[in-house]
Amino acid sequence: MRILGIESSCDETAAAVIEDGHMLLSNVVNSQIDIHAAYGGVVPEVAARSHLEVISPVINKALSDADCTWDDIDAIAVTYAPGLIGSLLIGTLAARTLAIIHHKPLYKIHHVEAHVYANFINQQSDTLSLTLPKNQPVFPLLALIVSGGHSQLVLFQNHGDYQLIGQTQDDAVGEAFDKVAKIIGLPYPGGPAIAKAAELGDSQTFHLPIAKLAGEYDFSFSGLKTAVLRTVQREVGKDFTFPSHELPALVTDELQHNMAASFQYTAIKTLVDKTKKAYDNFQPASVVIAGGVAANQELRRQLSLALPIDIEYAPIQLCTDNAAMIAALGYFRAHIDQPTDPYNMEVQPSLSMLDAA
Ligand code: KG4
Ligand code: ZN
Repeated sequence: MRILGIESSCDETAAAVIEDGHMLLSNVVNSQIDIHAAYGGVVPEVAARSHLEVISPVINKALSDADCTWDDIDAIAVTYAPGLIGSLLIGTLAARTLAIIHHKPLYKIHHVEAHVYANFINQQSDTLSLTLPKNQPVFPLLALIVSGGHSQLVLFQNHGDYQLIGQTQDDAVGEAFDKVAKIIGLPYPGGPAIAKAAELGDSQTFHLPIAKLAGEYDFSFSGLKTAVLRTVQREVGKDFTFPSHELPALVTDELQHNMAASFQYTAIKTLVDKTKKAYDNFQPASVVIAGGVAANQELRRQLSLALPIDIEYAPIQLCTDNAAMIAALGYFRAHIDQPTDPYNMEVQPSLSMLDAA
Protein backbone atom coordinates (compact mmCIF):
# COMPACT_ATOMS: atom_id res chain seq x y z
CA MET A 1 0.00 0.00 0.00
CA ARG A 2 1.49 3.31 -1.10
CA ILE A 3 0.54 6.49 0.72
CA LEU A 4 1.24 10.07 -0.28
CA GLY A 5 1.75 12.17 2.86
CA ILE A 6 1.26 15.95 2.91
CA GLU A 7 2.44 18.23 5.75
CA SER A 8 2.07 22.02 6.08
CA SER A 9 1.26 22.68 9.75
CA CYS A 10 4.01 25.21 10.46
CA ASP A 11 6.91 26.41 8.31
CA GLU A 12 7.79 23.32 6.27
CA THR A 13 5.90 22.39 3.11
CA ALA A 14 6.44 18.66 2.69
CA ALA A 15 5.26 15.65 0.69
CA ALA A 16 6.49 12.06 0.73
CA VAL A 17 5.56 8.61 -0.49
CA ILE A 18 5.78 5.61 1.84
CA GLU A 19 5.08 1.95 1.09
CA ASP A 20 3.51 -0.25 3.78
CA GLY A 21 4.22 2.22 6.56
CA HIS A 22 7.99 1.69 6.62
CA MET A 23 9.57 1.90 3.15
CA LEU A 24 10.48 5.46 2.18
CA LEU A 25 10.19 6.10 -1.58
CA SER A 26 10.54 9.89 -1.54
CA ASN A 27 10.83 12.70 1.00
CA VAL A 28 10.53 16.32 -0.16
CA VAL A 29 10.75 19.17 2.37
CA ASN A 30 10.68 22.84 1.45
CA SER A 31 11.77 24.74 4.54
CA GLN A 32 10.86 28.38 5.09
CA ILE A 33 13.52 28.84 7.78
CA ASP A 34 15.41 31.44 5.70
CA ILE A 35 12.24 33.50 5.22
CA HIS A 36 11.27 33.51 8.92
CA ALA A 37 14.82 33.85 10.31
CA ALA A 38 14.72 37.55 9.39
CA TYR A 39 11.82 37.97 11.86
CA GLY A 40 13.31 35.75 14.58
CA GLY A 41 10.36 33.31 14.40
CA VAL A 42 7.51 32.04 12.23
CA VAL A 43 5.14 34.71 10.87
CA PRO A 44 1.80 32.93 10.24
CA GLU A 45 0.62 34.95 7.22
CA VAL A 46 4.01 34.69 5.54
CA ALA A 47 4.04 30.93 6.20
CA ALA A 48 0.60 30.38 4.62
CA ARG A 49 1.54 32.38 1.54
CA SER A 50 4.76 30.45 1.09
CA HIS A 51 2.94 27.08 1.47
CA LEU A 52 0.54 28.14 -1.26
CA GLU A 53 3.40 28.98 -3.63
CA VAL A 54 5.22 25.67 -3.30
CA ILE A 55 2.65 23.02 -2.36
CA SER A 56 1.96 21.79 -5.91
CA PRO A 57 5.61 21.53 -6.99
CA VAL A 58 6.49 19.83 -3.67
CA ILE A 59 3.76 17.19 -4.17
CA ASN A 60 4.71 16.65 -7.81
CA LYS A 61 8.35 16.19 -6.85
CA ALA A 62 7.42 13.66 -4.15
CA LEU A 63 5.55 11.63 -6.78
CA SER A 64 8.27 11.85 -9.41
CA ASP A 65 11.10 11.12 -6.93
CA ALA A 66 9.15 8.01 -5.89
CA ASP A 67 8.76 7.10 -9.57
CA CYS A 68 4.99 7.04 -9.04
CA THR A 69 2.01 8.18 -11.06
CA TRP A 70 -1.38 8.67 -9.41
CA ASP A 71 -2.23 5.06 -10.39
CA ASP A 72 0.50 3.88 -8.01
CA ILE A 73 -0.89 5.80 -5.00
CA ASP A 74 -3.47 4.02 -2.82
CA ALA A 75 -4.33 6.80 -0.37
CA ILE A 76 -3.49 10.33 0.78
CA ALA A 77 -2.65 11.27 4.38
CA VAL A 78 -2.59 14.91 5.49
CA THR A 79 -1.93 16.84 8.70
CA TYR A 80 -5.17 18.42 9.97
CA ALA A 81 -4.05 19.25 13.55
CA PRO A 82 -2.43 20.95 15.39
CA GLY A 83 -0.68 23.95 13.80
CA LEU A 84 -1.14 27.39 12.30
CA ILE A 85 -4.62 27.64 10.81
CA GLY A 86 -3.57 29.28 7.53
CA SER A 87 -0.77 26.76 7.07
CA LEU A 88 -2.99 23.75 7.83
CA LEU A 89 -5.61 25.02 5.37
CA ILE A 90 -3.20 25.00 2.43
CA GLY A 91 -2.09 21.37 2.94
CA THR A 92 -5.59 20.06 3.65
CA LEU A 93 -7.14 21.92 0.70
CA ALA A 94 -4.50 20.45 -1.60
CA ALA A 95 -5.05 16.95 -0.18
CA ARG A 96 -8.85 17.21 -0.35
CA THR A 97 -8.77 18.41 -3.95
CA LEU A 98 -6.35 15.67 -5.02
CA ALA A 99 -8.38 13.00 -3.19
CA ILE A 100 -11.50 14.10 -5.07
CA ILE A 101 -9.87 14.41 -8.49
CA HIS A 102 -7.95 11.12 -8.30
CA HIS A 103 -10.57 9.13 -6.30
CA LYS A 104 -8.22 8.29 -3.43
CA PRO A 105 -9.20 7.65 0.20
CA LEU A 106 -8.09 10.51 2.45
CA TYR A 107 -6.84 10.07 6.03
CA LYS A 108 -6.47 12.96 8.47
CA ILE A 109 -3.36 12.83 10.59
CA HIS A 110 -2.43 14.38 13.92
CA HIS A 111 1.00 15.98 13.54
CA VAL A 112 2.29 15.19 17.04
CA GLU A 113 1.26 11.53 16.86
CA ALA A 114 2.92 11.36 13.43
CA HIS A 115 6.29 12.51 14.84
CA VAL A 116 6.45 9.16 16.68
CA TYR A 117 6.03 7.30 13.37
CA ALA A 118 9.28 8.66 11.96
CA ASN A 119 10.70 5.81 14.05
CA PHE A 120 8.79 3.17 12.04
CA ILE A 121 10.57 4.05 8.79
CA ASN A 122 13.33 1.47 8.44
CA GLN A 123 13.79 1.00 4.69
CA GLN A 124 14.28 3.31 1.72
CA SER A 125 14.58 3.18 -2.05
CA ASP A 126 18.16 3.23 -3.36
CA THR A 127 17.79 6.84 -4.51
CA LEU A 128 17.74 7.91 -0.82
CA SER A 129 20.56 7.69 1.69
CA LEU A 130 19.24 8.34 5.19
CA THR A 131 20.69 6.51 8.19
CA LEU A 132 17.59 4.57 9.21
CA PRO A 133 16.94 2.30 12.21
CA LYS A 134 17.22 -1.41 11.39
CA ASN A 135 14.14 -2.44 13.36
CA GLN A 136 10.72 -0.99 13.97
CA PRO A 137 9.81 -0.21 17.59
CA VAL A 138 7.58 -2.70 19.40
CA PHE A 139 4.70 -2.21 21.83
CA PRO A 140 4.34 -1.25 24.59
CA LEU A 141 6.24 1.76 23.35
CA LEU A 142 7.28 4.78 25.43
CA ALA A 143 7.62 7.93 23.31
CA LEU A 144 9.30 11.15 24.43
CA ILE A 145 7.78 13.74 22.09
CA VAL A 146 9.75 16.98 22.12
CA SER A 147 9.14 19.71 19.57
CA GLY A 148 8.64 23.45 19.26
CA GLY A 149 5.07 23.14 20.51
CA HIS A 150 5.03 19.94 22.60
CA SER A 151 6.87 18.13 25.35
CA GLN A 152 5.19 14.95 26.47
CA LEU A 153 5.69 11.34 27.47
CA VAL A 154 3.19 9.02 25.84
CA LEU A 155 2.78 5.28 26.34
CA PHE A 156 1.50 3.41 23.27
CA GLN A 157 -0.10 -0.02 23.80
CA ASN A 158 -0.75 -0.30 20.08
CA HIS A 159 -1.37 1.86 17.00
CA GLY A 160 -3.99 4.43 17.94
CA ASP A 161 -4.08 3.19 21.56
CA TYR A 162 -2.08 5.43 23.84
CA GLN A 163 -2.13 7.34 27.11
CA LEU A 164 -0.45 10.53 28.27
CA ILE A 165 2.06 9.88 31.05
CA GLY A 166 3.36 13.40 31.50
CA GLN A 167 3.66 16.75 29.78
CA THR A 168 5.04 20.24 30.11
CA GLN A 169 3.13 22.55 32.41
CA ASP A 170 4.22 25.64 30.50
CA ASP A 171 6.70 26.05 27.60
CA ALA A 172 7.65 23.25 25.23
CA VAL A 173 11.33 22.35 25.36
CA GLY A 174 11.90 23.42 21.72
CA GLU A 175 10.32 26.75 22.55
CA ALA A 176 12.77 27.10 25.47
CA PHE A 177 15.71 26.38 23.11
CA ASP A 178 14.38 29.06 20.74
CA LYS A 179 13.81 31.66 23.49
CA VAL A 180 17.17 31.07 25.18
CA ALA A 181 18.90 31.35 21.78
CA LYS A 182 17.37 34.81 21.37
CA ILE A 183 18.56 35.93 24.82
CA ILE A 184 22.17 34.92 24.12
CA GLY A 185 22.22 36.18 20.53
CA LEU A 186 21.95 32.94 18.55
CA PRO A 187 19.84 32.70 15.38
CA TYR A 188 16.43 31.08 14.81
CA PRO A 189 15.77 28.18 15.05
CA GLY A 190 17.49 28.07 18.41
CA GLY A 191 17.79 24.30 18.84
CA PRO A 192 20.54 23.55 16.34
CA ALA A 193 22.30 26.87 17.12
CA ILE A 194 22.41 26.12 20.87
CA ALA A 195 23.59 22.55 20.25
CA LYS A 196 26.48 23.90 18.16
CA ALA A 197 27.44 26.69 20.58
CA ALA A 198 27.22 24.22 23.51
CA GLU A 199 30.07 22.18 22.01
CA LEU A 200 32.38 25.15 22.67
CA GLY A 201 31.18 25.79 26.23
CA ASP A 202 31.36 24.24 29.69
CA SER A 203 27.99 22.87 30.86
CA GLN A 204 28.96 23.22 34.54
CA THR A 205 29.56 27.00 34.40
CA PHE A 206 26.03 27.91 35.49
CA HIS A 207 23.88 25.76 37.76
CA LEU A 208 20.35 26.29 36.50
CA PRO A 209 17.24 25.01 38.31
CA ILE A 210 15.19 21.91 37.46
CA ALA A 211 11.54 22.53 38.37
CA LYS A 212 10.00 20.24 40.97
CA LEU A 213 6.44 19.40 39.97
CA ALA A 214 3.50 17.55 41.46
CA GLY A 215 3.12 15.30 38.40
CA GLU A 216 5.83 12.62 38.56
CA TYR A 217 6.41 12.67 34.78
CA ASP A 218 5.59 16.32 34.06
CA PHE A 219 8.04 18.94 32.82
CA SER A 220 8.40 22.70 33.14
CA PHE A 221 10.74 24.90 31.14
CA SER A 222 9.59 28.44 31.74
CA GLY A 223 11.48 28.77 35.06
CA LEU A 224 14.63 27.53 33.34
CA LYS A 225 14.24 30.16 30.62
CA THR A 226 13.77 32.89 33.25
CA ALA A 227 16.82 31.65 35.17
CA VAL A 228 18.86 31.97 31.95
CA LEU A 229 17.58 35.51 31.46
CA ARG A 230 18.41 36.58 35.04
CA THR A 231 21.86 34.96 34.93
CA VAL A 232 22.74 36.64 31.62
CA GLN A 233 21.52 40.02 32.89
CA ARG A 234 23.70 39.60 35.99
CA GLU A 235 26.74 38.40 34.01
CA VAL A 236 26.66 41.50 31.78
CA GLY A 237 26.30 43.76 34.84
CA LYS A 238 22.60 44.68 34.45
CA ASP A 239 19.56 44.17 36.68
CA PHE A 240 16.27 42.37 35.97
CA THR A 241 14.70 45.46 34.35
CA PHE A 242 17.21 45.39 31.47
CA PRO A 243 15.35 44.48 28.23
CA SER A 244 16.18 41.02 26.90
CA HIS A 245 16.40 42.17 23.27
CA GLU A 246 19.34 44.41 24.19
CA LEU A 247 21.28 41.57 25.82
CA PRO A 248 22.83 39.92 22.70
CA ALA A 249 24.95 43.02 22.04
CA LEU A 250 26.56 42.62 25.50
CA VAL A 251 26.99 38.83 25.52
CA THR A 252 30.58 37.69 24.92
CA ASP A 253 31.36 34.52 22.95
CA GLU A 254 32.49 32.86 26.16
CA LEU A 255 29.24 33.68 27.98
CA GLN A 256 27.22 32.58 24.95
CA HIS A 257 28.99 29.21 24.72
CA ASN A 258 28.90 28.50 28.46
CA MET A 259 25.23 29.47 28.77
CA ALA A 260 24.28 27.39 25.70
CA ALA A 261 26.05 24.40 27.27
CA SER A 262 24.61 24.96 30.76
CA PHE A 263 21.05 25.44 29.47
CA GLN A 264 21.25 22.41 27.15
CA TYR A 265 22.64 20.28 30.00
CA THR A 266 19.74 21.24 32.31
CA ALA A 267 17.01 20.90 29.66
CA ILE A 268 18.30 17.47 28.63
CA LYS A 269 18.71 16.31 32.23
CA THR A 270 15.05 17.26 32.86
CA LEU A 271 13.90 15.18 29.87
CA VAL A 272 16.17 12.21 30.52
CA ASP A 273 15.40 11.94 34.26
CA LYS A 274 11.64 11.86 33.64
CA THR A 275 11.96 9.40 30.75
CA LYS A 276 14.09 7.10 32.92
CA LYS A 277 11.51 7.29 35.70
CA ALA A 278 8.70 6.42 33.26
CA TYR A 279 10.80 3.59 31.81
CA ASP A 280 11.43 2.10 35.26
CA ASN A 281 7.75 2.26 36.17
CA PHE A 282 6.10 1.14 32.90
CA GLN A 283 8.84 -1.20 31.58
CA PRO A 284 8.06 -0.58 27.88
CA ALA A 285 9.51 -2.90 25.22
CA SER A 286 10.80 0.09 23.18
CA VAL A 287 11.61 3.74 23.78
CA VAL A 288 11.63 6.32 20.98
CA ILE A 289 12.18 10.06 20.84
CA ALA A 290 10.26 12.21 18.38
CA GLY A 291 9.90 15.83 17.27
CA GLY A 292 12.43 18.49 16.33
CA VAL A 293 14.34 18.40 19.63
CA ALA A 294 14.91 14.65 19.08
CA ALA A 295 17.50 15.82 16.54
CA ASN A 296 19.68 16.87 19.49
CA GLN A 297 22.74 14.60 19.63
CA GLU A 298 23.46 15.23 23.30
CA LEU A 299 19.88 14.24 24.21
CA ARG A 300 20.38 10.98 22.29
CA ARG A 301 23.71 10.32 24.02
CA GLN A 302 22.35 10.99 27.51
CA LEU A 303 19.20 8.94 26.96
CA SER A 304 21.17 5.95 25.69
CA LEU A 305 23.43 6.21 28.75
CA ALA A 306 20.46 6.39 31.14
CA LEU A 307 18.33 3.55 29.78
CA PRO A 308 19.24 -0.14 29.94
CA ILE A 309 17.84 -0.89 26.45
CA ASP A 310 19.15 -0.13 22.96
CA ILE A 311 17.45 2.83 21.33
CA GLU A 312 17.50 3.17 17.56
CA TYR A 313 17.18 6.81 16.61
CA ALA A 314 15.43 8.17 13.50
CA PRO A 315 17.64 10.29 11.21
CA ILE A 316 17.63 14.04 11.92
CA GLN A 317 15.80 14.69 8.60
CA LEU A 318 12.83 12.66 9.87
CA CYS A 319 12.83 14.22 13.38
CA THR A 320 12.10 17.78 12.25
CA ASP A 321 8.85 18.38 10.35
CA ASN A 322 8.41 16.17 7.27
CA ALA A 323 5.69 14.31 5.39
CA ALA A 324 7.27 10.85 5.57
CA MET A 325 6.04 10.58 9.17
CA ILE A 326 2.56 11.66 8.03
CA ALA A 327 2.47 8.97 5.34
CA ALA A 328 3.87 6.35 7.76
CA LEU A 329 1.13 7.02 10.32
CA GLY A 330 -1.38 7.18 7.43
CA TYR A 331 -0.64 3.53 6.68
CA PHE A 332 -1.40 2.39 10.24
CA ARG A 333 -4.40 4.73 10.53
CA ALA A 334 -5.80 3.29 7.28
CA HIS A 335 -6.13 -0.02 9.13
CA ILE A 336 -8.07 1.41 12.08
CA ASP A 337 -9.92 4.50 10.76
CA GLN A 338 -12.50 5.12 8.08
CA PRO A 339 -11.35 7.53 5.37
CA THR A 340 -12.41 11.17 5.83
CA ASP A 341 -14.99 12.84 3.59
CA PRO A 342 -12.86 15.18 1.44
CA TYR A 343 -15.83 17.52 0.99
CA ASN A 344 -16.23 18.05 4.75
CA MET A 345 -12.82 17.94 6.31
CA GLU A 346 -11.92 20.59 8.90
CA VAL A 347 -8.58 21.65 10.35
CA GLN A 348 -8.16 21.75 14.15
CA PRO A 349 -5.34 24.15 15.05
CA SER A 350 -5.18 23.30 18.76
CA LEU A 351 -6.44 19.71 19.02
CA SER A 352 -4.40 17.66 21.48
CA MET A 353 -3.11 14.24 20.47
CA LEU A 354 -5.21 12.61 23.19
CA ASP A 355 -8.43 13.93 21.72
CA ALA A 356 -7.43 12.63 18.29
CA ALA A 357 -6.86 9.01 19.42
O1 KG4 B 1 9.02 19.19 15.29
P1 KG4 B 1 9.54 20.50 14.81
O2 KG4 B 1 10.34 20.55 13.54
O3 KG4 B 1 8.36 21.54 14.66
C1 KG4 B 1 7.30 21.52 15.56
O4 KG4 B 1 6.35 20.69 15.36
O5 KG4 B 1 7.40 22.29 16.55
O6 KG4 B 1 10.39 21.10 16.03
C2 KG4 B 1 11.00 22.36 15.94
C3 KG4 B 1 11.78 22.60 17.23
C4 KG4 B 1 12.35 24.01 17.32
O7 KG4 B 1 12.03 24.54 18.59
C5 KG4 B 1 13.85 23.78 17.18
O8 KG4 B 1 14.62 24.75 17.86
C6 KG4 B 1 14.02 22.40 17.78
O9 KG4 B 1 12.89 21.69 17.33
N1 KG4 B 1 15.25 21.71 17.34
C7 KG4 B 1 16.24 21.36 18.17
C8 KG4 B 1 17.27 20.80 17.37
N2 KG4 B 1 16.85 20.83 16.06
C9 KG4 B 1 15.61 21.40 16.07
N3 KG4 B 1 16.36 21.47 19.51
C10 KG4 B 1 17.49 21.04 20.08
N4 KG4 B 1 18.52 20.52 19.38
C11 KG4 B 1 18.47 20.38 18.05
N5 KG4 B 1 19.51 19.85 17.38
ZN1 ZN C 1 6.57 19.00 14.39
